[in-house]
Amino acid sequence: MLPLSKIQPCLLEDLSETEIVKCLKDLSDGFTKSRHKIDDLYASRKHISSYASFYLPTNMYKMEFLLSQLPEKLLEQLRGSTIIEVGTGPGTYIFALIEALKCQMCSFVGVDHSPLMLEQAKKLHDSLYPCSDITWRADIPKVDGEKTLVFGNSLNEMGHYSALKLVKSNKAKIVICIEPGTKDSFENMGQFREGMIKDGYQILYPCTSNGPCPIIKDKKDDWCHQVVRTKLDDSIERLSQMIKLDRKTMPAIFHVYIRNEFAALNDSSGKYRIVRTVKNIKHAFLWDICLTEGDDNKIVRIEVMKKDFKKKEVKLLEAMSTGHLIDFEITKKLSADKWRVKLSHSILDEL
Ligand SMILES: C[S@@+](CC[C@H](N)C(=O)[O-])C[C@H]1O[C@@H](n2cnc3c(N)ncnc32)[C@H](O)[C@@H]1O
Repeated sequence: MLPLSKIQPCLLEDLSETEIVKCLKDLSDGFTKSRHKIDDLYASRKHISSYASFYLPTNMYKMEFLLSQLPEKLLEQLRGSTIIEVGTGPGTYIFALIEALKCQMCSFVGVDHSPLMLEQAKKLHDSLYPCSDITWRADIPKVDGEKTLVFGNSLNEMGHYSALKLVKSNKAKIVICIEPGTKDSFENMGQFREGMIKDGYQILYPCTSNGPCPIIKDKKDDWCHQVVRTKLDDSIERLSQMIKLDRKTMPAIFHVYIRNEFAALNDSSGKYRIVRTVKNIKHAFLWDICLTEGDDNKIVRIEVMKKDFKKKEVKLLEAMSTGHLIDFEITKKLSADKWRVKLSHSILDEL
């Protein structure tokens, strides 16, 4: 989406590759092990520039993938609302939305409590998207009309309670979350989901209904997340190898909500969501899917026979991201929660 060569001239600091690699290692350590250091890193021009060099262009792919999974009717509503990214950092998901929705006419607000992140975002905005209507601020302003709130790797930093308060006080119509694909983040998102449903929202992604999450209900030692698989440009791939952080296969937790009165925009009922690609064996793919049965959601393991597909289609299925909505016909129930299926070929149109 955005190659490093386009980002580099707009960074707060002109850094050598060695400096970027060192700062990225500090940031990665801050995100995973030393969270107490993160505010200091957000106050350093070098670290903000490094974040913008690496996390911004790679995270943008996550939004592109998520939008490809949402119904067009919902995207229309998104375009018609003011889109506010809370914890925007260098403007990551605002720029991703501009690129993916092709909407020069949309209004955006980027909110962050780090002044340096906002300075970096503004610099990228002025150089790369000068015609886009974006306001950068430390808090959410009063806005007329419908609002979409986007939380991108920020809900885990502010906690589910603060995020729920923001959703409520701003009466958001649509809420999009793109959060780290970790177990801790899943717990936080589980509490956020519960609060959102109580507050009158319908979850559109990844769940196919507001019923309880089977992983939480059955206390499974597991977490629901998606995996975005992508190709990177050479310069980013090089950075990724130098800091030993794979960005071609990115785990993430995506949630999308809409206020209950717009629940008709949901197109996932009666369908199945792939929540894990478990194994690729010689004759079949083994995938875990989540589906709705009555008031409940449950997980079933399906066996998708490769012989139903051409060779190049099998290759596409092998390389696909996790999180697609699929349709199939059950050919044999191997047990209550293990089915052999004939997959509808419609998924190939999305790959
Ligand atoms: C990991 S960065 C994510 C940036 C961007 N959304 C992305 O995914 O690339 C988290 C950002 O959230 C901001 N943040 C955390 N808590 C916040 C809060 N309560 N209000 C505003 N910004 C917040 C931080 O300053 C930081 O810039």
